[in-house]
Amino acid sequence: MNNSLFIKSAFSEQTERPPVWMMRQAGRFMPQYWEIKNKYSFLEMCKTPEIAADVTMLPVDLLGIDAAILFCDILVTGEAMGGDLSFTQGIGPKFANPIRNAQDIDNLRVDVMGELQYVADAIKVIQQRLNGSIPLIGFAGAPFTVMSYLIEGGSSKDFKLTKLFIHNHPDLAHKLLSKIAAVTADYLNLQIAAGVNAVQLFDSWALALCWDDYKEFSHNYNAEIISKLNRKDVPVISFCKGSSVFAPLMAEAKPDVISIDWNADLKDIKQRFSSNLAVQGNLDPHILYAEKHVIKDRIHRLFERMRGENGFIFNLGHGIMPDIPFDNVKYAIDVVKEFRY
Ligand code: CP3
Repeated sequence: MNNSLFIKSAFSEQTERPPVWMMRQAGRFMPQYWEIKNKYSFLEMCKTPEIAADVTMLPVDLLGIDAAILFCDILVTGEAMGGDLSFTQGIGPKFANPIRNAQDIDNLRVDVMGELQYVADAIKVIQQRLNGSIPLIGFAGAPFTVMSYLIEGGSSKDFKLTKLFIHNHPDLAHKLLSKIAAVTADYLNLQIAAGVNAVQLFDSWALALCWDDYKEFSHNYNAEIISKLNRKDVPVISFCKGSSVFAPLMAEAKPDVISIDWNADLKDIKQRFSSNLAVQGNLDPHILYAEKHVIKDRIHRLFERMRGENGFIFNLGHGIMPDIPFDNVKYAIDVVKEFRY
């Protein structure tokens, strides 16, 4: 695996072209995903290793991406700790027992790797199917983002309850974040032990925070998790929305790669930090709705920016939306694969 385009780029080694994968590459934009989704609930898909492997392999077989990502969800850590999690079509994730007070936090369990064993099992099945062809990325939600779901009880537009909680009850928030961080580090190490070749920490909603709050309630915990990972030969990718702003702190947490949203000039970010810090990103996913000549032009613009830089993994600034045409996604991947530095 150390010779794959993806792992070499993640460790900032020279490659002939950037590797490509896309966040949410195994999802609803694929007709084949629906054939499986119509038979099972989302959590059943995550928790049945053979099905999780089938879904993980869809973009490998149909899109020809350079890295696979485990099919699961960031909220399974919250569920294992005691959150009553469900996913409803059109509504999204829901925790029926949101965190409201100190007692709720005390009730959360941290010794939960047994409950997440299905993820290790899925990783083993997926690695058999991949058979050394491309690397497998594991992932977890970052503590702040997972905490926001546990407090809001689901998705939120403004994170009002979460922010009120960290501002009025910082001690409780730290207690909760510490528990989630401990589970998250164990969980990523469980995935590494089971055989993933890289891990990505998703702090999707960090962009809701101001600088001081990001530092205190997100960055510190992400840095703690990254420092605890058994990461020999396993690159660590740090992702958040808001990364154009928070990149200096993300770099301080010492991942191998920072994944950048679409607001920033990727070359500018790349050049601001050590040459050993790779970047991932950062096409606006909305470009994939556009006509093919626009898709090609925007991908080429990104390449021209990144020409001559080692340590560039092509991705979107955030996940593929469910109604993006499959053909456009496939086309974008083909355009990336034709490029040479
Ligand atoms: O990227 C991949 O292909 C791997 C699988 C993956 C999923 N979720 C599958 C999924 C990954 C890496 C995630 C991470 C995830 N989950 C994040 C971080 C990434 C991001 O997008 O910022 C977040 C915030 C979640 C929480 C989550 N899970 C939400 C908000 C939703 C509903 C979203 C929506 O658009 O309805 C989910 C459900 C989910 N996770 C689906 C998939 C394929 C859709 C489930 C369905 O089929 O209904």
